[in-house]
Amino acid sequence: MHTRKFLIFLNNYYHHLILGISASLLATPMLSLAASETKIVSPESIGIIKHALQDTVIRELDAKKVKRGRIIYLANCAICHGKNGESKPGWRKRGADGKFPPPPLNGSAHTWHHSTTTLLKTIKEGSPPEIGNMPGWGNKLTDDEINDVIVWITSIWPDELYEIWYKEIERKDQKKKEHKLD
Ligand code: HEC
Repeated sequence: MHTRKFLIFLNNYYHHLILGISASLLATPMLSLAASETKIVSPESIGIIKHALQDTVIRELDAKKVKRGRIIYLANCAICHGKNGESKPGWRKRGADGKFPPPPLNGSAHTWHHSTTTLLKTIKEGSPPEIGNMPGWGNKLTDDEINDVIVWITSIWPDELYEIWYKEIERKDQKKKEHKLD
């Protein structure tokens, strides 16, 4: 490289060089600080913490599905289940017709006891006549649309509930399905 070119290079990039050098100088004391801090944690707890971190369920929902699901929900379901899936008080008791009113879908009832597969089936088929008056949606909405609604429903659950649902219901169901495909 010619001296002139090198000088131009230096002129353009010297602050990156300085940043790089100071970062590496800073990194050493930070590393030793981190190492001294981990000494407070016993070796056994490190194992437990690592395991818990590995298994932490971070809700990474597809924002497009959530948005589409919400629109479909508002257009078709909110009239019975409430705008935010909150339903109406008294949903636990059968009405005068002997049927159950629409339950909340916001995590306060038992919707989260079901996997996506089961929810899809329930929503497509509607209520068994002796249980309730929910119409079947299989001939009005596509599976993709219903799945988007289910994603929206899971998006309104509290974090802890989503985590339990995902670990205990959804992931187990997915594993069962993978097994069947083998
Ligand atoms: C006409 C009122 C009505 C509409 C509209 C309606 N539902 Fe329902 N839904 C009900 C009733 C009543 C039940 C309770 C009886 C039952 O469990 O089958 C129910 C139950 C459910 C359940 C089962 C809840 C659980 O905890 O197991 C889900 C899920 C559900 N509805 C989702 C939907 C979705 C999604 C839509 C829109 C696509 C929708 N519903 C539209 C009345 C309705």
